[in-house]
Amino acid sequence: MSPEIPFVQGRIEPDGGSFDAWREQSLLDSLEQGGLQWPSSCRSGTCRTCIGKLVSGQVRYEMDWPGLSAEELAEAYVLPCVARPVTDVVLQDPWAD
Ligand code: FES
Repeated sequence: MSPEIPFVQGRIEPDGGSFDAWREQSLLDSLEQGGLQWPSSCRSGTCRTCIGKLVSGQVRYEMDWPGLSAEELAEAYVLPCVARPVTDVVLQDPWAD
């Protein structure tokens, strides 16, 4: 078995660009390192400024309960400042209509 690749592919839909999504850092950090803009404030999973929708893929959280309701989690909302990718991820453009 080959060693695990340290990053997966991230993309913003509909046309917001692509980025390397590093497994051991937040999606927000990876977005910014990829030169992409994303709303943020606290960067610790509480203010919800960065909330976004995961179109596809899976994320995980280091914290027990990020600032999302059970309904939001079920509807694939994520907090990129504390979410780390498990698979390739596609996020909905937070500024799209
Ligand atoms: S920036 Fe505050 S919850 Fe993500």
